[in-house]
Amino acid sequence: MALPENRKLVAGNWKMNGTLAFLDTVAEMRVGAAGGLAEADLLVCPPATLVSAVATALDGSAIAVGGQDCHAETSGAFTGDIAAEMLADCGATHVIVGHSERRQYHAEDDATVAAKLRAAHRAGLVAIACVGETKDEREAGNALAVVRAQVEALLDDTITGANTCIAYEPVWAIGTGLTPTVDDVAQMHTSIRETIAARIGTDEAARLRLLYGGSVKPSNARELMAAADVDGALVGGASLNAADFLAIARAC
Ligand code: 13P
Repeated sequence: MALPENRKLVAGNWKMNGTLAFLDTVAEMRVGAAGGLAEADLLVCPPATLVSAVATALDGSAIAVGGQDCHAETSGAFTGDIAAEMLADCGATHVIVGHSERRQYHAEDDATVAAKLRAAHRAGLVAIACVGETKDEREAGNALAVVRAQVEALLDDTITGANTCIAYEPVWAIGTGLTPTVDDVAQMHTSIRETIAARIGTDEAARLRLLYGGSVKPSNARELMAAADVDGALVGGASLNAADFLAIARAC
């Protein structure tokens, strides 16, 4: 399903977790979100092997389905890769691009991520483009500048609030239980919004959802989601548990 704009979005990134047995958890999520949540839109991004089955299991529900990565090309000799069009064909409406684990383990640079973002749009998918600084970059006082450069590398005139979300995921906060302070999150999100506005205009930038990701849990979601310019969450570990995932969405 296409998600309406200007509501918070809580997206689950399952990473390399889940087999067909996980459809039981998906069924729990479907029941828990029946009729839609007042607080937020929901999206799950299973591994590519499960996109089709999860999309079928969630058909007609309030939960949308996305991929975790896509190739920049439509088709061709790229063994092991998956085109954005293939994800759309399986029922996905969204795709994550440029996750720090892709940047780190698959050497994806800003140009590659930008090409994947355009591929997502070509296939009619909403791109969730990830940015974020490392621990060293934050400690050196460079977090804002690093993330601004990552965002600028993604921007062109085709970016809209409807076709793109940006997820700010500090690398040091992913899977560590650590999170930035609420003030740091707000400062970063406001800076990202300003960077986007300088390119596509203030009104369009206001419609583009900025997600925070990195150790989001039911216990910290309310405070993080209330921070200025935070329009939702990209959740890793806690999205593998239906109760936790729904609790995060309800905390928005
Ligand atoms: P965790 O929520 O497990 O820290 O992962 C965050 C993340 O990388 C989501 O894309």
